[in-house]
Amino acid sequence: MARGGFRATNDWPRGRETKPQADAVQELGANHTLIVGQSRSGKTNAARRLIEEILLWTEARIVLFDPNGDFLWLKEVNPDISNLNSGEMEDREDFAPLWNERVRPFITVASKREDGAPWGIPWGKLTLEEMAAFLNLDPAETFAEYQVFRRHYEFEETRWMERNPDDGSEPRKGRDLGTIRTFKDSQYFKIGSGDAIDRYRLRLESLEARPAWALTSSNDLDSLLRSSFKGAVIDLSMGDEEVRAMTAARALEVVWKQGEEYRTEAMRAEPGSVISWPGTIVVIDEAHLFAAPGPLEPRRRLLSDRIERFADQGKKFNLYLMLITQQPNKLNQRILAECSNRVILRMNERLSLRLLEETYGGIRGRYDGALTFSQGEALLEGALLCDENPPPPMPRGVLFLRACTREGGATPPRNWARPKINS
Ligand SMILES: Nc1ncnc2c1ncn2[C@@H]1O[C@H](COP(=O)(O)OP(=O)(O)OP(=O)(O)O)[C@@H](O)[C@H]1O
Ligand SMILES: [Mg+2]
Repeated sequence: MARGGFRATNDWPRGRETKPQADAVQELGANHTLIVGQSRSGKTNAARRLIEEILLWTEARIVLFDPNGDFLWLKEVNPDISNLNSGEMEDREDFAPLWNERVRPFITVASKREDGAPWGIPWGKLTLEEMAAFLNLDPAETFAEYQVFRRHYEFEETRWMERNPDDGSEPRKGRDLGTIRTFKDSQYFKIGSGDAIDRYRLRLESLEARPAWALTSSNDLDSLLRSSFKGAVIDLSMGDEEVRAMTAARALEVVWKQGEEYRTEAMRAEPGSVISWPGTIVVIDEAHLFAAPGPLEPRRRLLSDRIERFADQGKKFNLYLMLITQQPNKLNQRILAECSNRVILRMNERLSLRLLEETYGGIRGRYDGALTFSQGEALLEGALLCDENPPPPMPRGVLFLRACTREGGATPPRNWARPKINS
């Protein structure tokens, strides 16, 4: 069952060179992958190409953190696809019908822009640890306020338990302490007063004012991620960095919990029985914004720790990372070190290439070719080069064609700085 989530589907690969490609896609899905390159080198495009292969040909699911809005149209096929890639894509002529048939109905876009679709964080379902981190409370640094918060949390929890008496059959499930607004307007503040309570209450008010929260407790980020999907694109292109960090941290927790549930189910299953255990790849564009090296304030630390947990232990839960960044030096180095697949696009400085060499060992100078690459040219390294045995000591050069799905985001026109010439 180890890589069950990434088994190629039966009709792979429809007239292509079969095994090496299927194996490469499997290795791509079943390992952590790093995509690096300078600005405009084609990182996002390369990621989209890889995601297209994974979604079309494997049973894997993708959850994508999209801080630039570049993936919001992932479910659509690029309308200009045949002009853009003419002559280069015999094997992708059938892309549109396949994509529409297999993948499109299963891509969910969690975006505030889509008619205010509800997708916010369900405050009442957060753990005590999450609430404390989102309030930026650290027991070591803000002890008095942290204690007030703890007592408040326990107060709300007791009230919830009174409303939902334990019937003794199972541990209570579905604890929900309500919205952040009801939490803030709690009776608890009528009981006590004091400096620490006032400061804590101010924190809660300023957190409530962030545009992060689900309005109702039935339709939220948790339920979205627990629904059935092939790809879930989480639009994090809002300006508010704190909302971005909290949304990503919560999404990771939901996916992690699901991974744990699948694993428990697999362990309990009868020997020989077939269980469905889909692998999930969490794709993080601009990964350095999500997992910076420390020291970090509690909110950012929670997020970075969660990504690190995926990197360290995700594989046993069938959970994987695809990290995209132009600044590997600004990414938590422990996470970087766990990426056993590497895709290196054009780089305009040696420092990052040296860092990668130091992180992964091997022959010095092997990434230097990336200094002169054109857009889309890349070096591949790691488990996905599984067609060579023993593994090659040097990376393999490839060219990424333009992805077939529709590009999102906003790119400034290339000719904006062209001098205006009066005729
Ligand atoms: N291989 C390619 N062939 C054709 N066009 C490409 C290719 N790679 C990228 N492009 C185009 O170049 C532009 C920039 O590419 P992309 O957004 O992938 O770069 P990036 O490295 O992610 O940039 P940024 O650092 O700004 O996020 C996009 O409009 C994309 O469609
Ligand atoms: Mg990009």
